[in-house]
Amino acid sequence: MDGHTDLNRAYWDERVAIHVRSRFYDVDGFRDGRLSLGADEVRDLGDVRGQRLAHLQCHFGLDSLSWARLGAEVSGLDFSGPAIDAARGLARETGIAARFVQADVYDAPAVLGRDFDIVYTGIGALCWLPDITRWAQAVAALLRPGGQLYLVEFHPANWGLDLNPAGETPEIRYDYFTRHDGEPVDLAGSYAESGAPTAHNGTLQWNHNMGAVITALIRAGLAIREVRESDASYMRTFPFMEQGEDGHWRVPAGRPNMPMMYTLRAVREGC
Ligand SMILES: C[S@@+](CC[C@H](N)C(=O)[O-])C[C@H]1O[C@@H](n2cnc3c(N)ncnc32)[C@H](O)[C@@H]1O
Repeated sequence: MDGHTDLNRAYWDERVAIHVRSRFYDVDGFRDGRLSLGADEVRDLGDVRGQRLAHLQCHFGLDSLSWARLGAEVSGLDFSGPAIDAARGLARETGIAARFVQADVYDAPAVLGRDFDIVYTGIGALCWLPDITRWAQAVAALLRPGGQLYLVEFHPANWGLDLNPAGETPEIRYDYFTRHDGEPVDLAGSYAESGAPTAHNGTLQWNHNMGAVITALIRAGLAIREVRESDASYMRTFPFMEQGEDGHWRVPAGRPNMPMMYTLRAVREGC
């Protein structure tokens, strides 16, 4: 195992228990029947009943189990053992059928198989992967011809921003274009519970610029159908953001807007 995998996995292993009991993930709401998915995602993918869906970097499986609750035949994959254990436990407890496999994302076709109708991934997934070309090849190999990738991800133009020292304005902190040796990012606590005590805080991350993601997918044999950039975020990235009725966070009127997230839809060619 190379160094970045061990480093990043220790970070994620430690956060699973914190996330499972956090208000952010609202596992009790899920137990009561709530879906953890964004309304756009459910609308975009439509009727998933009977569809074979691979969820890459599924964390502890809340979104995977939400797709399964909507009728998809779900396989979730994550490299964190505690995450996969928690996902299997939640599946058992709620009686929702889904398969969960512990593996590196690059090994997904070997361990999950092929011929999936949908590969679903994102929401803080790509920044953990050093090689976007290998990722795109894995996605293509998972899909049947005509099958689709549905990626919802934080926008790379936003990923590199951080608050200025006065805590008022975003300023550029990390490169927009991918640094091939990775970006060391130290993150105590968690986005789901900022004050949570944590020991494994060092990570190595990669910001994959938009052109790199799109080009890797095209070269892997996918036809891009849509790239939808959004000013709304699933996270309160900056303290001045306001939450809308849809639950998403935006820069308030009167401040210049910026891209927060994007949705990319692509279809494997060859059908
Ligand atoms: C931010 S989470 C994904 C978020 C997920 N959409 C959610 O909110 O539940 C990122 C996940 O990627 C996983 N991960 C990071 N690097 C990975 C790799 N190389 N292979 C497989 N999983 C990986 C982590 O264990 C973590 O569960």
